[in-house]
Amino acid sequence: MGEAAMRRPARQVDYEDIQGIVRFGYRRMTQAVFLLLRVTNADAARAWLANARITSAMTQEPPPTTALQIAFTSEGLRALGVAEDIIEGFSSEFIVGMSSDPAHARRLGDIGPSDPAQWQWGGAPEAIPHVMVMLYAEPGGLEAWGMEAMAGAEEGFVQLAGLGTSDMDGVEPFGFVDGISEPTIDWQRERPARDEEREDYTNLSCLGEYLLGYPNEYGGYTDRPLLDPQRDPDALLSPAEEAPDKADFGRNGSYLVLRQLEQDVSGFWRFIDAQVQGDPTDRKRLAEAMVGRTMDGEPLVGRTNEAIDGEDDPRNSFTYRDDDAGLRCPIGAHIRRSNPRNADLPAGPPGFVSWAKRTLGFDAEALAGDLVASTRFHRLLRRGREYGPGVSLADAVAGQVPQEGTGLHFICLGANIARQFEFVQSAWLSGIRFNGSPDESDPLIGNHLPRADGTATDCFSMPVAAGPAQRVCGLPQFVTVLGGAYFFLPGLRALRYIAKGEP
Ligand code: HEM
Repeated sequence: MGEAAMRRPARQVDYEDIQGIVRFGYRRMTQAVFLLLRVTNADAARAWLANARITSAMTQEPPPTTALQIAFTSEGLRALGVAEDIIEGFSSEFIVGMSSDPAHARRLGDIGPSDPAQWQWGGAPEAIPHVMVMLYAEPGGLEAWGMEAMAGAEEGFVQLAGLGTSDMDGVEPFGFVDGISEPTIDWQRERPARDEEREDYTNLSCLGEYLLGYPNEYGGYTDRPLLDPQRDPDALLSPAEEAPDKADFGRNGSYLVLRQLEQDVSGFWRFIDAQVQGDPTDRKRLAEAMVGRTMDGEPLVGRTNEAIDGEDDPRNSFTYRDDDAGLRCPIGAHIRRSNPRNADLPAGPPGFVSWAKRTLGFDAEALAGDLVASTRFHRLLRRGREYGPGVSLADAVAGQVPQEGTGLHFICLGANIARQFEFVQSAWLSGIRFNGSPDESDPLIGNHLPRADGTATDCFSMPVAAGPAQRVCGLPQFVTVLGGAYFFLPGLRALRYIAKGEP
């Protein structure tokens, strides 16, 4: 049998090669900690990685009660001895990182109190993590599991930060039910991946939007490191699906975005309280308008019972089609900005390139216009966890908050950091002219600081049927970034390749 035949790619999805967090949220494992490590001894670090028992995306009976996941920054791959030309095969955002370019940080809204220069980790070069170890366990199991899983790691790594998490029972620190809307991944690979416009909003998303090595929503394969097979003599890696003569370092891997978002829970509720002169009903209504859902998770636009491809949660059976003006759900609400639930744009000049330009992030033409691009190219798989002590609404309004900070360790997965996380964060949430409101940004997470040209971003509009919109201005910053980094979450085969070191 020739080498090409031996390396024939499989169309089926090999769950054993995928880290479990891509497929499962591990919600029953309510305990979790994210360890940010730096490599001190590459050989010892690789030896530890070779023995790490990573939980795969295989269905197990009974399901596991603990899980271990591992991801690397580009600095981390370099510190572990991965060759420079392999690293260069990754996307430039991943290579450059989240914090090292000031213009880039500005686009993400990381200025003022969220400036990377002030981050607790991930800002200064020596504070950039190399490796993130994610440990999950069912209640009570984390400590023992953590000790077992991390045994011997100290020989290869030093810990930069240990990000603890809290179980807030599905509610984020401001008090809203979270984790309701997620894209449905087409694991069966039934969705035809091709460059063709779609008339309806769909929640079903091509595998290649989240995992490298599969066709994405454009019908193409995202760039990733593809190696000559001589560099993989033991055939640890799978062949690339679209180029079977290459060994695919990216296959079944994903990019993971981590941001530590500290929430000023008291600042949020006190600001809102002041706007409504302390009226509890109006207070709740204004906060809910900012989110776009009620505190217990109902969409403000209402359940419209639309049949949405790939969606079976009735709390997600809606689009904004019949609420163009934002009378039921303000256009600037957090969930409407982060997922406008629209179909593809009306036809523009013919051809793939112009179409891609209209839908891809960071394109000058796109930034100059209104940024309501097709949702299906900008979906995020959210896997974050809350941290810190919960604060009751009464205590928040009264300004009685614990010293210890609270917030969200925001995590999202995607195959294209620029088109998914960065586009949503910069174009839709920080939005320059999101649906025509120049002085607004996301009411929850925007930094609300004036832009470079002096334009304010601290307003929020709630359109009303007759007359001008009701407006709230002077929104302070409720969410501050304390750290962040871009990671590569490899498939298990690629992880073995990294652990083995290049021949
Ligand atoms: C501390 C910061 C944040 C808080 C408190 C927060 C809160 C929420 C809440 C309460 C929901 C509604 C629950 C749901 O639909 O699942 C939601 C949805 C969502 N958020 Fe956030 N969020 C934060 C940061 C972010 C960031 C940084 C992004 C992206 C860059 C983001 C993207 C999304 C998306 C995509 C949805 C789902 C929208 C949909 O499909 O309808 N969020 N968020």
